Amino acid sequence: MSPATSPQAPLDPDRIAAGLSTRRIGRKVVVFAETASTNDLAVRYATDPANDGLAVFAEYQTAGRGRAGAAWHSHPGKSLLCSVLLLAGPCPAELLSLAAAVAVVEAINDDLHIRARIKWPNDILVNGRKAAGILLETRRAARQAAHIIGIGINCLQSTEDFLPELRASATSLVIEAAAACDRTAVARRLLTSLDRWIETAAASPALVAEAWRQYATQLHQRLTVIYDGRRFSGHCIDVDPEKGLVLRLDSGGIRMFDAAHTSIAKNS
Ligand code: BTN
Repeated sequence: MSPATSPQAPLDPDRIAAGLSTRRIGRKVVVFAETASTNDLAVRYATDPANDGLAVFAEYQTAGRGRAGAAWHSHPGKSLLCSVLLLAGPCPAELLSLAAAVAVVEAINDDLHIRARIKWPNDILVNGRKAAGILLETRRAARQAAHIIGIGINCLQSTEDFLPELRASATSLVIEAAAACDRTAVARRLLTSLDRWIETAAASPALVAEAWRQYATQLHQRLTVIYDGRRFSGHCIDVDPEKGLVLRLDSGGIRMFDAAHTSIAKNS
């Protein structure tokens, strides 16, 4: 195993928090060695409003989840597995999902000289391969909505670390940057970037959509989406910060597709 892909020292909440100047995200940082899913762990903190902005990290998940019921696998100590809890202020899930994707892209691109981009709704790609994914969940807690933004970033994996069926489509920051990748630094940039974009989402959804367009891989492409089991094909012409992906359909007309009910068809 090359030094670049060996697990690093375990994440330390104090080191992640040191020097963070965020207003909301990461005011509290906790790190667990192992848990089923950081999204499930984060929701346990939702009964106390003081936990708004909490960031939960784990070195390993025994039941990590992706979108649409998929599993999210990761070797111990090689990824950033993080869930951020948002308790205050309603925010449309669609907008939050765009803001989170922009934040993850910028956290990856800063410093590492990588060009990460967004495949709607939740995939972060580098050179066409998936380096990170986002699972946004909304639960009710103490009579209010709690949003949990779950983020998995592949940091130190070598190609052999991925399951054989994923090797052609997955990548990690260390593979793409061909340089050392300090998970603590990436974690800090992630919290800083989330803080900025979640605040921007509240003030100006249009700015989030504008940033999303800069990083989008599907804009002006022909796509087929599956919405509640039905297939729709057309050209992606935009994203709407409240209603989702905007397609000009081959069958005529313009239709918007929300992330919760839509997936992109394979080979589309
Ligand atoms: C996807 O690409 O389908 C989303 C993957 C999200 C994975 C992260 S890892 C931290 C958090 N905890 C989970 O169980 N899932 C998310």
